[in-house]
Amino acid sequence: MSTIVILTGAGISAESGIETFRAETGLWAQHRVEDVATPEGFAKDPKLVVDFYNGRRIQVAGAEPNAAHKALARLEAEHTGEVLVVTQNVDDLHERGGTRNLIHMHGALNSALCAGCDHRWPIAGDMQVGQQCPACSAPTARPDVVWFGEMPYEMDRIFDVLGRADFFAAIGTSGNVYPAAGFVAEATRAGADTVEINMAPTIVGSEFTSSIMGPATQTVPAWVDKILKSN
Ligand code: OAD
Repeated sequence: MSTIVILTGAGISAESGIETFRAETGLWAQHRVEDVATPEGFAKDPKLVVDFYNGRRIQVAGAEPNAAHKALARLEAEHTGEVLVVTQNVDDLHERGGTRNLIHMHGALNSALCAGCDHRWPIAGDMQVGQQCPACSAPTARPDVVWFGEMPYEMDRIFDVLGRADFFAAIGTSGNVYPAAGFVAEATRAGADTVEINMAPTIVGSEFTSSIMGPATQTVPAWVDKILKSN
């Protein structure tokens, strides 16, 4: 029974209408990373940061999982071994598409985090600056999103599964951000077959055993069919 680890990035949600980060008109062309995705940016202008994630939360609420998200859920349901999806995305389209064994390594838009006591709780609508933590009552709520300079979530669990992976796929991620961009090297060390699935080759593309290029809504269902047939 084989173990499959799948890393996803913004490209898997692009065809659901959610913009990626590094496209010409993507999020990082519209906003400065230092302003909206660092602890220093939040300390300097919390309203700008809270408003940015409130806007993204509204956008995601109006989006639907696409054929690629659903294909990964089908893989998890039908594969005889373990399937773990590790996403860098803060949207909830994997969950809504049916994936259960999922790690949000960069956090989630539908969650708040207390900067004081680390309590996390679900949120649906807008967050406010200085919102109270329901556990410790301090006015220290922040978006539960991992910013640059912070440690991504569940790294021990991710590296544990990567260390015994038979297949590793990276879908719709540009390979610019570590530690996620280093997962292919870890999977390779574990002896896994690795595939990059993207619109175009990325800067870490040469580290993969093979590649599949095209829009995720087409390539991912086809790749899942192939894996399930070889089960
Ligand atoms: P990027 O915006 O860097 O890369 C998106 C990738 O998706 C690119 O390689 C595109 O070629 C590809 N792509 C676009 N549309 C696609 C489609 N329809 N089908 C398949 N591939 C497609 O986004 P990420 O790699 O996810 O972190 O970015 C990684 C991290 O950088 C994010 O989690 C975020 C960001 O800064 C933090 O904010 C901490």
